[in-house]
Amino acid sequence: MQFRPLGRTQESIPVVGLGTWGIGGEMGPDSSRDDVGIQALRLGMDLEMKFIDTAEMYGAGHSEEVVARALEGRREGVFVASKVSPRHFAYDDMLAAAKRSLKRLGLKQMDLYQLHWPNPKIPLSETMRAMEKLVDDGLTRYIGVSNFSVEQMKEAQQSLSHEKIVSNQVEFSLIDRSAEARILPYCQKEGLTLIAYSPLGQGKIPRGKGASFKVLDEIAGRLSKSRNQVALSWVLQHESVVAIPKAADADHLKENADVGNWKLGVEDCQRLAKAFA
Ligand SMILES: NC(=O)c1ccc[n+]([C@@H]2O[C@H](COP(=O)([O-])OP(=O)(O)OC[C@H]3O[C@@H](n4cnc5c(N)ncnc54)[C@H](OP(=O)(O)O)[C@@H]3O)[C@@H](O)[C@H]2O)c1
Repeated sequence: MQFRPLGRTQESIPVVGLGTWGIGGEMGPDSSRDDVGIQALRLGMDLEMKFIDTAEMYGAGHSEEVVARALEGRREGVFVASKVSPRHFAYDDMLAAAKRSLKRLGLKQMDLYQLHWPNPKIPLSETMRAMEKLVDDGLTRYIGVSNFSVEQMKEAQQSLSHEKIVSNQVEFSLIDRSAEARILPYCQKEGLTLIAYSPLGQGKIPRGKGASFKVLDEIAGRLSKSRNQVALSWVLQHESVVAIPKAADADHLKENADVGNWKLGVEDCQRLAKAFA
């Protein structure tokens, strides 16, 4: 597994991590497949994808509880990230939300706590003051944002007195390249990690048809990889980017982990960029 620095910290994180949307439920809790989720996360960690991304919103908190069970006896060396929902961005609400997340995760400290989406109704300065307090109190090691524009990243950073934002989690895949215009160059210049969510287009890449997918399949065939591996590898060939595909299926997890062990050539990257422009 290759690693990349987290922002400008001394921390390195695996280039392929583990998304958890749907593990423990979606908008509400669902315990019916907890064992499948736990097994998937454990296999993912065994395959060196020791970076788990969850959120208080996923399964209305139950995803964090499933992550806790997957982590039992194997917390060491795993980078655990969660996200706070925008309705908890007021100062006291955020401190309370972080404590609830930690309780569900069975942890004293998270590695990364991220603002899930911007919330224009609450001053960002208040929200970032709460984030900084969480770092000062040792409840999270690092601060991240998600779905933030360049302007919002700048405002968030300016609101911090002594901490740095280390990451922005945004959608990025061959079929959603909107981050390439401004967010990715800004992250690369300012030393933030771009955590690519939905790197397989929420499952649309596995099912995709048409001329661009023919190019993808041709490259995959030549390299003896699957189209999903090549698509994920394309995401990772961008400087400062790590990805968090979600996979419950064991074969998918094995494929995704393998992507952390090789690199797509420059020419293939360029061909894909053109085919999916
Ligand atoms: N910050 C945000 O606002 C935000 C928004 C969306 C997502 N996220 C995060 O990003 C994670 C990933 O995004 P996502 O779940 O939306 O979509 P995704 O990772 O692009 O796609 C997930 C789908 O792809 C399938 N899959 C995974 N690996 C595969 C492979 N090697 N071959 C074929 N199919 C494969 C999965 O199937 P199986 O499950 O059956 O293996 C699942 O159906 C989420 O779980 C969540 O943690 C964050």
